[in-house]
Amino acid sequence: FFVCGVIEKVLFYLTRVNTMEKKLAEYKCDTNEAICLKLVRFPEDIEDDGTTFHPEYSHQIFGDDEVAFGYKGLQIQLFYSAGNLSTLFKVKYSSKVTETFDCVEPDDVEGKIREIVPAGFTCNTDDFISLLEKDANFKPFGTLLHTYTVHNEEAGELTYQIHKADITCPGFQEYHERLQTFLMWFIETASFIDADDDRWDFFLVFEKYNKDGETLYATVGYMTVYNYYVYPDKTRPRVSQMLILPPFQGEGHGAQLLEAVHRFYCSLPKVQDITAEDPSENYVKLRDYVLVKLCQGLPSFAADKLHLGFSADMIKEAQDKLKINKKHARRVYEILRLRATDMSDEEKAREYRLEVKKRLFGPYRKNQRELAKMRKCLRPEELVSHMGQMDTQTQHEELEKSYQVVVEDYRRIIERLASQA
Ligand SMILES: *[C@@H]1O[C@H](CO)[C@@H](O)[C@H](O)[C@H]1NC(C)=O
Repeated sequence: FFVCGVIEKVLFYLTRVNTMEKKLAEYKCDTNEAICLKLVRFPEDIEDDGTTFHPEYSHQIFGDDEVAFGYKGLQIQLFYSAGNLSTLFKVKYSSKVTETFDCVEPDDVEGKIREIVPAGFTCNTDDFISLLEKDANFKPFGTLLHTYTVHNEEAGELTYQIHKADITCPGFQEYHERLQTFLMWFIETASFIDADDDRWDFFLVFEKYNKDGETLYATVGYMTVYNYYVYPDKTRPRVSQMLILPPFQGEGHGAQLLEAVHRFYCSLPKVQDITAEDPSENYVKLRDYVLVKLCQGLPSFAADKLHLGFSADMIKEAQDKLKINKKHARRVYEILRLRATDMSDEEKAREYRLEVKKRLFGPYRKNQRELAKMRKCLRPEELVSHMGQMDTQTQHEELEKSYQVVVEDYRRIIERLASQA
């Protein structure tokens, strides 16, 4: 009796734990799905799910699992007026765990969002609609650098403007705080900048649109650039962050923005060259495209010069006229040379392959030099393990793989240039 009683209790307890676990699992939400973002132009957009978009990342706020615990049907709404980015913030759910019934506390979702969304948002839809009406008075910050149009299937010809702003523009600092919250959702390792430093330049993209017969401006994306000092009297602008908001991605705004930024700094004599902080693969591809577009008209990069190799003239011309450093100019040369090379001609294709591989081999050669140095001070068994990592067969395979990836990227850039021509 006694033993059976204990087993029964244990079993009872185990099933309880099990159902409890199942029940609690229902209270876990994927935060990338739960967070609903929206750029609102018209009041009817608020109820239109078609304009909602979701984060790619939320790990910086909700942890690596990107899960919020404690709610069923969680929806975190962050809706922004299209221009000024006035913010509506609401947390909705169908049910929530309670401490008294479930002995667990729900995550403080609201508190976590408040950490990145600056004060001044509203939680009331009617208030948000009044703020939305004020968007008619919103004008882009700073000075106009560049205007361009994009053809849109539905809307026809749309006009975009790129502006340069800095923190001295009235209202800009607060606007930038609202804008930079998007970085958390779309850049894997985003961090906020200390904008209160006059070495930052901000470049903003806006779309002009029509509302009730008036021209309004919608925020499309932006770039931040830090002006580093270079001894004795130069600066080196370094691109720090760049984001095109998801509803506008794939329309060529990134290339327009980067080109406008390059052209802006090229016109300043004190600028040495333009660099980027920890660039992503996508950024490098975008930059290659833009730099090739800028360089293809330079005499030193003319088709008949390309097969003679990467020259001092190319380095100097790219540097002087376009503030492009040697490393970036080298990639431009490789892309333009690929475009000018008949790759079905075996001899020419071989020359091209060797030329690119020579550059790619640079880091391996350095490894070998280091290895040679190490040999002198390593014990034999340590040496063997290092040798193993670097045998020539693997080196060749790695090199071939890198070459294929590089050329594939180059081909896509060449295609894109051709489609724009
Ligand atoms: C933009 O938003 C800020 C902060 O909510 C507000 O103070 C300002 O009046 C708004 N400007 C416009 C034109 O809506």
